Amino acid sequence: MRGKILGLLKKHSGNAVSGQEMAQYLGVSRIAVWKQIQSLKKLGYQIQSRRKSGYILGTAPDLLLPEEIKHGLKTRKLGTKIYYLPVIDSTNDYAKKLAQAGAPEGTLVIAEKQTRGRGRLGHEWFSPTGQNIYMSLVLRPNLHPAQAVRITLLTGVAAALAVKNYCGIDLGLKWPNDLLVAGKDHKKAGGILTELGAESDRINYVVLGLGLNVNMRVSSLPGEVRKKAASLMESMKPIAKINRVELLQAILLQLEIQYQLFLSGGWDKIIENYRRLDTLKGRRVNVKQGNEMVSGQVAGMDNEGRLLVRSGAKTQSVIAGEVHIV
Ligand code: BTN
Repeated sequence: MRGKILGLLKKHSGNAVSGQEMAQYLGVSRIAVWKQIQSLKKLGYQIQSRRKSGYILGTAPDLLLPEEIKHGLKTRKLGTKIYYLPVIDSTNDYAKKLAQAGAPEGTLVIAEKQTRGRGRLGHEWFSPTGQNIYMSLVLRPNLHPAQAVRITLLTGVAAALAVKNYCGIDLGLKWPNDLLVAGKDHKKAGGILTELGAESDRINYVVLGLGLNVNMRVSSLPGEVRKKAASLMESMKPIAKINRVELLQAILLQLEIQYQLFLSGGWDKIIENYRRLDTLKGRRVNVKQGNEMVSGQVAGMDNEGRLLVRSGAKTQSVIAGEVHIV
């Protein structure tokens, strides 16, 4: 009901709505409306109460509240159910539990802060409070587990398109899961962590995790990470704070578009876009694939989304691994 009241207040943007009118519209008592108004105020919404005319909505808090995300969200499936957590160990871990308990496709987990945010290959993902986006989605594609890497790749494309549309910033992709701010030093502004619940031939669920440095000051990160990191706010010219709710809505919409395209046979189009955004082609790399090291020059990506690394006359395709640019 809180979301509906907020919706009504927003609809009247800046004008008063009476408690009586809202109560009637929602089929509840005026006291019930009043209680929800108090809970909105507690969250940080500025709401004036005028005795004669009713409630007027002022500024909203800078939080990724479900009520905010849902207001104006254009997706059909992604984000229909949202779990909002001010603090959590990892949104991926939380989403995994929800997925195991049967959460439907499109369930979204959002946190303001993670105490144990995880990156790929056991890396930590720094997750300070209230500045960035930490999200995990539950997906249930009807796919063979070997194809799950495509979800990571299409998410990279979706995030880059959304960031370009909403912030005007060009992102580049570093296979398979890094989002870099395009430019000469290619610093990392985001990453994707895709995790599976699967049987040998069938995916049961995918937890798609995305972390994006939005309004963070890179100088607040620890030394080693700081050197390679970027934030979107600091990549704006001039530097400007970004509305996280609107950016998140843009990302969800692009993700839904790319995901539907993929499910309906449009993989070729996605890989074509990935190639356009790829920052590795032509670079000399060392790729750690399990215990094996593959070294050479990146020749691009094959149609399955594997990285092609050329060394002399030999080209090797890499399914998964950690890429170091030489
Ligand atoms: C990487 O670059 O290695 C992937 C980083 C993924 C971070 C996100 S933040 C939301 C979700 N929850 C996590 O614990 N990790 C992912």
